[in-house]
Amino acid sequence: MSERKAASDVSAIDEFASTGAPLQRARHAPGYVYTAPEVLAREKDKLFMTDWLFVGRVEEFDRPGDYRAFRVLGEPIAVSRSKDGQLHAFANVCRHRGVEVVTGEGNAETFSCPYHGWSYDLTGRLLAAPYTQDVEGFDVRNCRMTPLRIGTWAGNVFVCFDPGTPPLEEFLASSLASSTSSGWTGADCRPSSRFRSTATGSSSSRT
Ligand code: FES
Repeated sequence: MSERKAASDVSAIDEFASTGAPLQRARHAPGYVYTAPEVLAREKDKLFMTDWLFVGRVEEFDRPGDYRAFRVLGEPIAVSRSKDGQLHAFANVCRHRGVEVVTGEGNAETFSCPYHGWSYDLTGRLLAAPYTQDVEGFDVRNCRMTPLRIGTWAGNVFVCFDPGTPPLEEFLASSLASSTSSGWTGADCRPSSRFRSTATGSSSSRT
């Protein structure tokens, strides 16, 4: 079986269990793991679309109106702090024709879609939609960009796409048990610098 053919058989991924074997018996992951679209799709489905994902520090969303837009494996999302001080995350997809509404990062009062000018508040809720007054059954007040789950631990901000994933505290519990037993709480962490890296098929930023 060629490496490429093996990658198309998702069950082949189970062979990777040998990478987690004790060191004397462990094997390197096959090279196609790093390039096969099927593996990337499975990673996206099983990890990125279900796990809680670190997206930044609370200091980066310090003031009401602070926001950042970015993508997680092609999925556009935005994180913002609303005027009441709460953090929010939502799918950055206009409810009209699917254009990305929020771009870059900064501080804003509202967000305006660049395509037809629908405007949204800092939580992703629709405020105004020009030329829709006469559209039957359409009520601006019932429309918003899809909210995502958001949580913080020790000033670290996480988002989650999956409503069925356990709460953040539960999700982190096993990791926290080992780190807090060593005396580290993460409470003193602060952003020092940021770098951005981009690779084919994925991009990420770290603070
Ligand atoms: S696509 Fe956003 S206003 Fe039309």
